[in-house]
Amino acid sequence: MSTETKKGVISGSLPVILGQYTDYNFKFTEVEIPNARFVNGRKYPVAIKLTYTKNNEASDDDSRLYEELAQFVYDLSKDYDTFKTLVRKFGALAIKGFNSTDPENFSLFVRNFAKGSNLSEFKQNGIAHPREDVAKGGVTTVNKTTGFRRLYAHQELCRFKTYPSILTFFAKYPSKTGGDETLTNASELYNVVKQKYPEFIDAMAKKGIYLTQTWPLGQKLPNGKVYSWKSEHSFGRLIKEGDDLETQKRKAGEICKKYVSEDYEWTKDGGMKINEHTKPIRLDPYNKEPIIFGSIPSYYQKYKWNLENIGPNIPPAVTYDNGEQIPLKYLNFILEQSIELSFDYKFEAGDIVLVDNYTSYHGRTKYGDQRREILACFLDDDEQEKKVPIPFVSS
Ligand SMILES: [Fe+2]
Repeated sequence: MSTETKKGVISGSLPVILGQYTDYNFKFTEVEIPNARFVNGRKYPVAIKLTYTKNNEASDDDSRLYEELAQFVYDLSKDYDTFKTLVRKFGALAIKGFNSTDPENFSLFVRNFAKGSNLSEFKQNGIAHPREDVAKGGVTTVNKTTGFRRLYAHQELCRFKTYPSILTFFAKYPSKTGGDETLTNASELYNVVKQKYPEFIDAMAKKGIYLTQTWPLGQKLPNGKVYSWKSEHSFGRLIKEGDDLETQKRKAGEICKKYVSEDYEWTKDGGMKINEHTKPIRLDPYNKEPIIFGSIPSYYQKYKWNLENIGPNIPPAVTYDNGEQIPLKYLNFILEQSIELSFDYKFEAGDIVLVDNYTSYHGRTKYGDQRREILACFLDDDEQEKKVPIPFVSS
């Protein structure tokens, strides 16, 4: 083991981010992403790659590598705000060269990024499908309901009272084909909708929108899991074993009112129907660019699919907040453009992707029944520092 003392961060921002530590020297440099988009004069997304060298006396123990890397990540975050600055500037940041698919190493990385950046684990409530905890610090599985359908563009929990500001994803085992992370820039989406249908932007800004979603009492999923409002990450965080149904409902209601929506009801078959009222036309609080914040593409797509596959008597999943129907040509355009403008990020094993949950929609392409293990950890700002996208009406 070297007796040299660590020097720490040598350079904290691009073009070359450098650190010298006891056993390893680290470097992040920007790498080109083929076909990256260009939005409002900036690349979308941006990627950096980690390389490292081992000092002569360093042991072969890999765990030292990830401990020292975690220290570097913490120092960079605390003293230079390196990663948070990059993800907020570009909307999405891919980190390549991590060279590990071990969730514990990802957890160490993400906890140190969070701690140094004054972010903390966002406790998930109101999640649609069950998640499993995988590693410390809120590292969980992602929505694995089915790989046979695309997961359409959405911003995580954006229609709710509380939502995370930064999402992190980790490619433990990407599928061989498909299963790409789709990234759609919410400001680019705003720009194209505003250009084609300015009256739709105006109507959404003035009237707001209403979306609704019902969590079943208990529905078996093809993957063997149960889809229910009782799930821990849905509304079940306070439910204890032995609670009767009325108590379970009361506790789910408490979570709903605090974190999700004041407006909910119970359906005849024991489902929990959440009524969500939101203003989707907003300004990103950091760069003040207009965005569409509202997960309309994924909601509308579900409705469209139901219409085509179940029948015509389905109430629309999204309307203006005063109950007026939104013309389908607008919804079709927004859905179409969320796909058209998407950058499909092809995961390599060990990739880490940071997503600004305000500026960037995420989703994923189909991958069928292949093995695919992507992990996620959602982060939020310190309560005193938290800024949220601001509703506005353009003049
Ligand atoms: Fe998501």
